[in-house]
Amino acid sequence: MIKANPLSLEIEYAIRDVTLPANEMERNGLKVLKLNIGDPNKYDFDTPSFIKDAVREAMDMGLNGYSPSPGLPELVKAIVKDERSRGNMIGPRDVIVTHGVTEALQLIFYAALSPGDEVLVPGPSYPPYVTYVKMMGAVPVPYRCSEENDWAPDVDDIARKISARTKAVCIINPNNPTGALYDRATIKAIGSVVKEHPNCFIISDEIYNLMTFEGTTPSTAEVVKDVPVITMNGISKIYLAPGWRVGYLSIRDVDDRLKDIREGIERQSRARLCANSICQYAYIKALEGDRGHIRETMGKLIKRRDLAFRRLNEIEGTSVRRPGGAFYMFPKIDAMRRGPWATDKEFVLELLKEERVLTVFGSGFGKEYGSDHFRIVILPTEDVLNEAFDGLDRLMRRKVRAYQ
Ligand SMILES: Cc1ncc(COP(=O)(O)O)c(C=O)c1O
Repeated sequence: MIKANPLSLEIEYAIRDVTLPANEMERNGLKVLKLNIGDPNKYDFDTPSFIKDAVREAMDMGLNGYSPSPGLPELVKAIVKDERSRGNMIGPRDVIVTHGVTEALQLIFYAALSPGDEVLVPGPSYPPYVTYVKMMGAVPVPYRCSEENDWAPDVDDIARKISARTKAVCIINPNNPTGALYDRATIKAIGSVVKEHPNCFIISDEIYNLMTFEGTTPSTAEVVKDVPVITMNGISKIYLAPGWRVGYLSIRDVDDRLKDIREGIERQSRARLCANSICQYAYIKALEGDRGHIRETMGKLIKRRDLAFRRLNEIEGTSVRRPGGAFYMFPKIDAMRRGPWATDKEFVLELLKEERVLTVFGSGFGKEYGSDHFRIVILPTEDVLNEAFDGLDRLMRRKVRAYQ
């Protein structure tokens, strides 16, 4: 056998792993209620038509060739304008357009990390943060986000875990999988901790930044001015086009501390040629266009959030915090120890098998902070959510009672 890099064989992605048994059920003609995947286009949301039109226009304009490695200059200009309007005072040379935030993460981690380096990631963690750090032989160190405080980062835990080995501290705001929206004070406090470590920078994933229920998402780079910050965003969520694979990273440095890492990122970006040219053109139109669809999207989501919040807290055996943004909730299985399940994965598989409700097991977002929870998306219609919660309620009543 030709050996693989063993690190590649350790990669896990719980969000997609649970779809295998669900697909099997669907092949057998069963209807599965899907609350598992963070793709609005799988539900009753669609890419705004003016953004779709831009893709057709780009093809007709002849943008079918490669584009410059850092991105189409007009897109870079639009990104700079957008970031500056939020107080992130970057310039055009600070932006690299990527195949989504996912590729941005790869470029950053591959440029910054050597074996043995540590990266502080939110716990529970969105899986690619753990995966890519590990692929570099580096160590992801989850910091606690406190459920009792609506899943806000526990800054004291960050202060305890940061060390001379820590290369970066990651912030995801609003957060996946918890839906937490971090306020300025929390971000400022994280910045103060990181500032004490001059070899450390902040990575801020703001892909859900305009998807808030109340208030707005602060730009980390605007709040924390004395620490280098790499901010990421993209077309996937806010503009409802996750399959188009366009995003970016922007570097807001302090005293040229990221000079080397910037070069490592730029070299990789040239080696992978460019991001999707026609979808880059559409992203310009998205950034420059009317954002009415976001109001519409959030109008639907707020109703679904309120419904999910009420039902999950009413069902005997589950409880949940109210999310401030994005489209996720991370309920606790309070009945875990009173039911027949040894793990949250068993719980999730049983909910699927018996009630046809597909969610993601919490430990897939990290055992330490994700166990005894599950993640749902609030993207399905209220009817589908109600049907799913009815199923959850039935399972809880049956199993927990029978077990007691
Ligand atoms: C926090 C977070 N970052 C990044 C991504 C993926 O972004 P992209 O589609 O731009 O690669 C997701 C997708 O679910 C996400 O939840």
